[in-house]
Amino acid sequence: MYNEKVMEHFQNPRNVGEIENPDGVGEVGNPTCGDIMKITIKVEDGKIVDCKFKTFGCGAAVATSSMVTEMVKGKTIEEAKKITNKMVAEELGGLPPVKMHCSNLAADALQKAIADYLGEKYEVEDHHHESEE
Ligand code: FES
Repeated sequence: MYNEKVMEHFQNPRNVGEIENPDGVGEVGNPTCGDIMKITIKVEDGKIVDCKFKTFGCGAAVATSSMVTEMVKGKTIEEAKKITNKMVAEELGGLPPVKMHCSNLAADALQKAIADYLGEKYEVEDHHHESEE
């Protein structure tokens, strides 16, 4: 059901853990399955220099969060703000449609961490209409 790249990230997830004294923290729950995700970021000169994640989630959630932490490192806040769950899924070479909702978790947690850093409020959107379940 999963492609090789997804499996590889699932088996060797990058950047697992929690940054000490992070500049931004984003924690979200997945309303579909009840799984949770926490992403912490470190920002220097407007760039995300480090990003770590912790999750109680399924394999797809682990793989997408691993991917998102890799994608975001070295990006400016502006660039990172544009990362969506679709981009993460594409970067992974695609996810099974029933697992698309899992990729929301990583992207939402990241966006929430960025909002936290900026001192903004982040409302998690309801993605359920775009991803079929
Ligand atoms: Fe919960 Fe995938 S089933 S995040």
